[in-house]
Amino acid sequence: MNLTTHTDAARLNLNGSEIVLDMVEGIENEKAIDGLKLRSQTGVINLDPGYGNTGSCASAITFLDGEKGVIHHRGYELKELAANCSFLEVAYLLMAGELPNKGEYRNWEGLVKDNSYLGPSLQELLNHYPVRSHPMALLASVVLSLTGFYGDLGEEKFYQFDMDVVRLIAKTPLIAAHFYRRKRGMGYIYADPDMGYAENFLHSMFSKRIPEERLKIMADALEKLLIIHADHEQNCSTSTVRMISSSGANVYAAIGGGIGALWGPLHGGANEAVINMLEYIEMSGGDLTTVIEKAKDKSDPFKLMGFGHRVYKTYDPRAVIAKQVVDDLLEKLGVEEPLVDTAMELERIATEDEYFVKRNLYPNVDFYTGIAYKAMGIPKEMFTVMFTMGRMAGWLAHLLEFQADENRRICRPRQIYVGHPIRPFVPMVER
Ligand code: SDX
Repeated sequence: MNLTTHTDAARLNLNGSEIVLDMVEGIENEKAIDGLKLRSQTGVINLDPGYGNTGSCASAITFLDGEKGVIHHRGYELKELAANCSFLEVAYLLMAGELPNKGEYRNWEGLVKDNSYLGPSLQELLNHYPVRSHPMALLASVVLSLTGFYGDLGEEKFYQFDMDVVRLIAKTPLIAAHFYRRKRGMGYIYADPDMGYAENFLHSMFSKRIPEERLKIMADALEKLLIIHADHEQNCSTSTVRMISSSGANVYAAIGGGIGALWGPLHGGANEAVINMLEYIEMSGGDLTTVIEKAKDKSDPFKLMGFGHRVYKTYDPRAVIAKQVVDDLLEKLGVEEPLVDTAMELERIATEDEYFVKRNLYPNVDFYTGIAYKAMGIPKEMFTVMFTMGRMAGWLAHLLEFQADENRRICRPRQIYVGHPIRPFVPMVER
């Protein structure tokens, strides 16, 4: 891993003595104090709730510059990948480290297509799953249950990929699509091997109800949206996947946990919350001021959904791409979507408001994506499923990177205890 020891060291004056800690540096001049020996050398730990100032690993998959709004995957700028690649091409890049050549891509795409089906027993499981469930609850539990279908088969790697990785990329969209149809009393649709990845998902959901031309327009937009969601370094759900994998749990357990983490409204669930917020504004007569004031009111837990980011202190570069995808999609589908105007007006007001400017709060990836999914006829409860489909590639890439790290350790943060000091036991009769 291209992590080098920096020429400077960090000097800590503690209890009257000076502790020297190594500094490490990545290839984009990011620097960190090497904390590996902090406790053994000083007896103290670093306390950083939410890990906003703590690096959990060195990674070669994605680089973000939050101040400049830059993101690249394995050295390729996201906007280049979104404009020129298919989602499966980007998934290959994230996991294998290089863009595939024609032969590699044919093998990889063929593997995914060969596994793009739900066997009868998996369909049986889905057909007995509580139909009122949120699709993210279904996905998390069914992905975990894939262990029962495929786990620990001790299979050889296929074209360098574990078959579990291939199955998760291939089957996740189909599990979601089948559940969508089951909720509506409709039957299973077999994937069409002549269709691309995003097109097959939409076909598995909507079948022939969508005219072919419109399906292709929607699929092109969805490929781009899957790419901009594919990876984002050590976000909450990816860190969760790494943490679960660090205990030696299998890929399905790690990914099932990642899905659970992504579901939260502060993370991947924000795209659904953004549409609810925009529809609330619409229903309340377009009153944007109330929403803005609620978001600024410290006594109100409401946040302006789709705004703000732990890393980006400027416009999320993915939001720029998402907005372009929305504009192109609506124009090509000939769809008028008033929520776009509401979102753009909300963005204008917020980005001119001192509260948001002072805190560097700008639209993030979730601000516009829901509008695109809505235009495709995808129900709100499946918006975070769309995020999951894209992020599956990043989770798997980080899981493979973690497992390949010969220095990997189980993730186990420390804490500072602030509870009762030790005290004598009191039997029940005396309480
Ligand atoms: C994703 O990490 C990733 O990379 C995530 C992600 C990925 O691809 O994996 O990019 C995907 O999760 C995008 C974020 C989606 N979530 C939302 O849109 C929900 C709304 N956003 C906020 O909840 C918030 O901005 C977070 C959770 C995204 C970031 O929270 P932080 O980094 O913990 O920031 P913070 O809460 O410390 O905020 C700093 C200040 C606070 O005010 P003060 O205490 O300084 O007065 O900004 C305020 C916050 O109250 N603030 C907001 C706000 N976001 C932050 N105030 C109103 N509305 C908001 N959206």
